[in-house]
Amino acid sequence: MSDTPREPAARPSRRDAEDPRAGDQGAPSPGDGGDHGTGRRNFLRAGLGAAGGLVAATTGAGKAAAAGGSGNSASNAITNLPTWTKYLGPGVEARPYGQPSKFEDSVVRRNVDWLTATKQSSVNFTPIYALEGFVTPNGICFERHHGGRADVDPAQHRLMVNGHVERELVFTLNDLLRMPQASRFYFLECAANTGMEWHGAQLNGVQFTHGMLHCVQYTGVTLRTLFREAGLKENAKWVLAEGADAAAMTRTIPLDKALDDCMVAYAQNGERLRPEQGYPLRLVVPGYEGNMWVKWLRRLEVGDKPYHTRWETATYTDLMPSGKARQFTWVMEPKSVITNPSPEMPLVDKGRQLLRGLAWSGHGKVKRVDISFDGGVNWRTAELQDPVLPRCLTRFVLPFEWNGEEMLVQSRVIDETDYVQPTITELHKARGTESIYHNNAIQTWLIKSTGEAENVHVA
Ligand code: MTE
Ligand code: CO
Repeated sequence: MSDTPREPAARPSRRDAEDPRAGDQGAPSPGDGGDHGTGRRNFLRAGLGAAGGLVAATTGAGKAAAAGGSGNSASNAITNLPTWTKYLGPGVEARPYGQPSKFEDSVVRRNVDWLTATKQSSVNFTPIYALEGFVTPNGICFERHHGGRADVDPAQHRLMVNGHVERELVFTLNDLLRMPQASRFYFLECAANTGMEWHGAQLNGVQFTHGMLHCVQYTGVTLRTLFREAGLKENAKWVLAEGADAAAMTRTIPLDKALDDCMVAYAQNGERLRPEQGYPLRLVVPGYEGNMWVKWLRRLEVGDKPYHTRWETATYTDLMPSGKARQFTWVMEPKSVITNPSPEMPLVDKGRQLLRGLAWSGHGKVKRVDISFDGGVNWRTAELQDPVLPRCLTRFVLPFEWNGEEMLVQSRVIDETDYVQPTITELHKARGTESIYHNNAIQTWLIKSTGEAENVHVA
């Protein structure tokens, strides 16, 4: 089993360590935001003036709009009647299951070719640069499979609860649909999200640096309800979750966590789970690394000790500078990223801007998000959009004025436990560079005078 591919982050990180061309080889096409050898690596904050390009908000609103707010103020776009006002559109039955506007057809999941060992053991990324609010639409939730997507017939699917329980039970989907129900929003982040960035700025797109992330509303049955039905024996301490896919993904979860907020979900965002997300059943482990959220869930075995499956020994451990590896690093620690501006979302005009981004914490709620325009010297507090929910993505926004100067923009989250998101330098000091997983460092975008954004590491 040792030949099973690891999370894909392993390869680029290693290659990047020695190879000056890293990131150019097979990197995504320009539209995909790949690194095209622009030499981003460590960007010295000293390279920018102290002001860092942030200008005082002296421009009046009207002036800002005139400076380019509407983009086409000189055209006849408002007085000309376009064709779609003159002819009937297609009827209501034309598209029984709706699709986004054709003008949004670039908002899709994307993969990175050189991360794709095989199509069955691979990952694609959520286009988070294009999203608003905190909910990820079902069709663009990133996918991570170790054995391809299982297309499960719900009529044949069963969920078994066994081990240290009073009654071993087997549920059909219909059994679960008739049990008490819970609906809750949670983020899911792959442990390898941002894993390609340990050795230096690598991927020039927020979809690729931070897109192993989604946040949906799950509906299903809590493990507390299921285990009440099965009856837990006194020595019950751990839960093994097993998937029905070819990878038979198996992970252990401490019983306390299982009883606290875990659930077996059959729906996401109001409709049944997508096959990519584990249809018809997936485990939801709020705030914990994505690989524990077993898809196509078929069995929950209650045990008295951790199982040490190969997924928690051969993989999903973090190599430390001492040469030892951390195991069972479950919680996804506080992290944030600016989605606009970003490499996919350049600033198109001077004047009024609305910076926005996402923050999250596996510990609970986001408390505050700070924004720097000068690479971490000065910070301003962003506005958090309601609702701010525990273990859920939180949207932050900050209006600002831009006069066309270069700047280094960063976001930094502080969660309700007062954990402060670290810089990459702090993370390197604590964890070295070979961890692969759990890179929650502050992300820096260099905004150039053209408005384009580039992924850089600030030294
Ligand atoms: N469950 C099964 N059965 N098989 C898998 O390959 N991949 C895991 C997890 N659950 C996986 C699985 C990993 S590594 C992650 S990050 C998440 O599912 C990804 O969930 P998503 O595909 O819904 O984004
Ligand atoms: Co993962």
